[in-house]
Amino acid sequence: MSGLDVRGLRAGYGAARVLHGVDLAAGDNEIVVLLGPNGAGKTTLLRALSGLVGGRGAAALDGVALLGRAPDEIARLGVAHVTQEGGTFGPLTVEENLRVGAQARPWPRRGVSEDVSRVFTYFPVLQAHLGRPAGTLSGGEQRMLAIGRALMARPRLLLLDEPTRGLAPQARSRLFGTIHAINRHEGTIMIIVEHNVAAALEVAHRAYLVESGRIADLRARRRW
Ligand SMILES: Nc1ncnc2c1ncn2[C@@H]1O[C@H](COP(=O)(O)OP(=O)(O)O)[C@@H](O)[C@H]1O
Ligand SMILES: [Mg+2]
Repeated sequence: MSGLDVRGLRAGYGAARVLHGVDLAAGDNEIVVLLGPNGAGKTTLLRALSGLVGGRGAAALDGVALLGRAPDEIARLGVAHVTQEGGTFGPLTVEENLRVGAQARPWPRRGVSEDVSRVFTYFPVLQAHLGRPAGTLSGGEQRMLAIGRALMARPRLLLLDEPTRGLAPQARSRLFGTIHAINRHEGTIMIIVEHNVAAALEVAHRAYLVESGRIADLRARRRW
């Protein structure tokens, strides 16, 4: 099966079980949004998919099992995770951060410079700052850099944990517009955690509600 297929996913921290059997599907090129209150388990779900926490059950990307593998192996299988914390390297320049992102890509790594240029077409402000240390960028710009860095791995599945957190409504719509363009042009499957329901449903092909470690499939967008 192509796309992401998650069945009965359980995960937690030590003895503390957080996810109690989550089913989720994302078809080819779909943007899936996860809604739900704080503490529901949204971040834990993304962490389980990228291997940052152990998970049980089943999760497959294009038929390849993800659970039980180390994060770097999952990254090489095409999963990129932009965490809530972002994860850019402050002392490195914008361009260096992007080039580091290509290291998650399997060999041979051709076309890295072309990919840097493509990231700049999505986020022109990064090109304007390409020689600056990432740590000197604004919060919103660092968010864009983190997404750009993830794109450098040419992911099949991009996990975005609250990418619009703290942004003003206009900046949030702009970022969602860019995310939509990336999904369309790169064919990347995306799972996005978002708190603003209206904004999320603007871009989502499909949405789920996560509550207390369980998940409910909201109906496909075209049928809302
Ligand atoms: N590193 C951790 N160690 C222990 N418990 C954690 C850790 N991270 C999150 N939790 C707990 O897991 C639950 C789900 O958290 P999280 O997945 O971050 O929720 P959400 O992203 O939906 O706000 C919460 O009860 C939280 O306290
Ligand atoms: Mg979270």
